[in-house]
Amino acid sequence: MSKIKKCLFPAAGYGTRFLPATKAIPKEMLPVLTKPLLQYGVEEAISADMDTMAIVTGRGKRAIEDHFDISYELEHQIQGTDKEHYLTEIRDVISQSTFSYTRQIEMKGLGHAILSGETLIGHEPFAVILADDLCDNDGEAVLTQMTKLYEKYQCSIVAVEDIPPEDSNKYGVIAGEFESDDIVRVNDMVEKPDPKDAPSNLAIIGRYILTPDIFDIIRDTKPGRGGEVQITDALLTQAKEGRVIAYKFKGKRFDCGSVDGFVEATNYFYDKTK
Ligand code: G1P
Repeated sequence: MSKIKKCLFPAAGYGTRFLPATKAIPKEMLPVLTKPLLQYGVEEAISADMDTMAIVTGRGKRAIEDHFDISYELEHQIQGTDKEHYLTEIRDVISQSTFSYTRQIEMKGLGHAILSGETLIGHEPFAVILADDLCDNDGEAVLTQMTKLYEKYQCSIVAVEDIPPEDSNKYGVIAGEFESDDIVRVNDMVEKPDPKDAPSNLAIIGRYILTPDIFDIIRDTKPGRGGEVQITDALLTQAKEGRVIAYKFKGKRFDCGSVDGFVEATNYFYDKTK
């Protein structure tokens, strides 16, 4: 049975909702307290026992590569001082994983971004984290919960949560048969449906486990919502064959792609330090 060791991070988007902050800074590098969003995601993947981070970047995203690298000048300056502890977390992250990068040349949607990462993933099951969905949990991280499920189901898995019906046009929405309180065998998926067309109130959040046949499926998937190649549409092909599970995860999730969610996450993590 193949264990999931690789995690893909689509990180090529423009972050328009956070302009002007994201004019020169990748949105994945915006900090909640002192830590960039992407580092939270990488730490979640490490805690789920993954050791290879595959990051799909784009133009103007070099700060990401510099962040997950050693800065000799900084190390030299800070070594042996009382400030050294500020580097502990990022040093741990760097020493526990390998980072590889590829660029998404054109912005053609999340499905296309994931396909751009094929060269970094190869032919094995892998996880996907959308770093602007920030998750937290007092127990097991969401991705850890999902890798355990993968051991049982051996198929693609999406994390879902209940949303207010009027929000359906912000998410991929699933429908299917409940196998237990928190597991649904998916048979329908729609990207950002109008509330009147939504097949349920269960929305996909930015955590996926994908089987590698998804790459060929994405290649055959036509542009959908917004004229973009959607991972939701590619997953529907697997779902029609009974090969997608939706999992109502345990924990909290903040939509840090919106200013409201970002502020909420900041307050939440700040309160946790008290
Ligand atoms: C993407 C996906 C969507 C999913 C969402 C989760 O949308 O396309 O299906 O529900 O992430 O955050 P985005 O937020 O990138 O527009």
